[in-house]
Amino acid sequence: MKNIEVSACLGEPTEPANIVILGAGGDLTKRKLIPSLIKMLRCGLLHSESRVIGVLKGRSREGWLDALHQGMLDYAPDIKINDQQWSEFTAMCSMVDGDLQEEKTYQDLEAALEPIHGVTNAVFYCAVPPRWYTTIAGGLHRLGLAHEDNGFRRVVIEKPFGMNLESAQQLNRELQELLNESQIYRIDHYLGKESVQNLLVYRFSNSILEPLWNRNFIDHIQISAAESIGIEYRANYYEKSGALRDMIQSHLMQVMTLVAMEPPVEFTADAVRDEKIKVLRAVRQIETENIKNQAVAAQYGSGHIDDESIKAYVAEDGVSVDSVAETFAGVRFHIDNWRWQGVPFILWTGKRLPERVSEIVIRFRKPPFNLFDTHSNPPLPNSLVFRLHPDEGIALRMNAKMPGLTTDTQRMVMRAPYSENGEDVSDAYEVLLHDVLTGDATLFSRADEVEESWSIIEPILNAWKDRISVERYRSGTWDVPGMDALFEDCEGGWHKPS
Ligand code: BG6
Repeated sequence: MKNIEVSACLGEPTEPANIVILGAGGDLTKRKLIPSLIKMLRCGLLHSESRVIGVLKGRSREGWLDALHQGMLDYAPDIKINDQQWSEFTAMCSMVDGDLQEEKTYQDLEAALEPIHGVTNAVFYCAVPPRWYTTIAGGLHRLGLAHEDNGFRRVVIEKPFGMNLESAQQLNRELQELLNESQIYRIDHYLGKESVQNLLVYRFSNSILEPLWNRNFIDHIQISAAESIGIEYRANYYEKSGALRDMIQSHLMQVMTLVAMEPPVEFTADAVRDEKIKVLRAVRQIETENIKNQAVAAQYGSGHIDDESIKAYVAEDGVSVDSVAETFAGVRFHIDNWRWQGVPFILWTGKRLPERVSEIVIRFRKPPFNLFDTHSNPPLPNSLVFRLHPDEGIALRMNAKMPGLTTDTQRMVMRAPYSENGEDVSDAYEVLLHDVLTGDATLFSRADEVEESWSIIEPILNAWKDRISVERYRSGTWDVPGMDALFEDCEGGWHKPS
């Protein structure tokens, strides 16, 4: 592996390990995992003696590698890997052909794990649908592959972690019977976004923000993920999930905990997660009679985005024509503690909106008295916006004087891009794979956090499960019924990204 160009990258070096991808023939492997491993290898964050072992069924090693190569061209063209570099990477790769239900697969996997300098570290990445997690953990457990007597053994799983509180508790119970909680890495790729981590650095390494970060100065907070894509090929999952489960219960509530938490005593996995869980425990349970005022559900109809004509959700392949699954969800939460009493946290997400923008908007209270205006527009409330993507960075919206002989005010935006050169920003999967290899679980969800966030949204899930209709919005527009009402008493109203 000496020839793959190594460019220096910040980050703790990792120990050599066997990186086992279960479900290595799937989409996640070729879209995210392989490009991230190659980038990590290039910049020295993946040890060059590591091994990549794909577990999949019914393919030759060559066929599998060809599909991965095509995936690099399709999904990671910016990596520009040449033939020689690719063959050096593939020399690290081996394959176990097998069914995840069969004992023999785990026996073959055991034989494929290689001691490197006498230590057999292994990461088992479950790139498969969640129904397989317990089967895999069971197979690893039976053959002793999860024993950490000669190296670390870590298991990575992807959301959804259950579909409601009960199934999440069951999944946690089953996994914890087979593995130690410290071996389970529940990945939430939003926490791997560098700009999300930057939020913590901004909050806790600058002294000017913290004094303002509370109910005395902040009117409300919006945390959003607008997407212009539809459900792509995932009708089967999405019909059961909907936007509330898909994005709010997981990604956006995780981001909310980082925005709202108290400073941890140290930057370690448990110290950070102890503070996050306190936030979730303080979220006010939404009473059934308030759900219609505090939660919005809507589904995209047909429309246009960038001159492309878009079909309605119910016309997507695999979606039932009378589906009421929500492709847009918004929820207004309250956190009952000293810092946040009375400050709404409004989390919203939707597909087929005009743009793909994800951000955190901290909207401050309006100035108490308008000194300048008598007849023109009053100054607008200040906002601090953390852009998670695209164009990661921070913007502070202020009021300033209009040029000329006037004291009329105008909106001024001070922008600080997170990186001058977007290429420096690591992909979330690189960050998180690196953390798994170094054993840093700070950015992974702990079992109690997952269960707590399900219990918060459970009343909404229950209220929505028997609905027979859903509001519609036109694809490519912000005309989502109910959203303006959700922000009714909030300074500046709904912030539609642009
Ligand atoms: C996934 C959801 O977890 O996150 C998808 O299942 C969604 O529906 C995706 O499109 C959004 O991720 P990102 O990083 O593109 O905002």
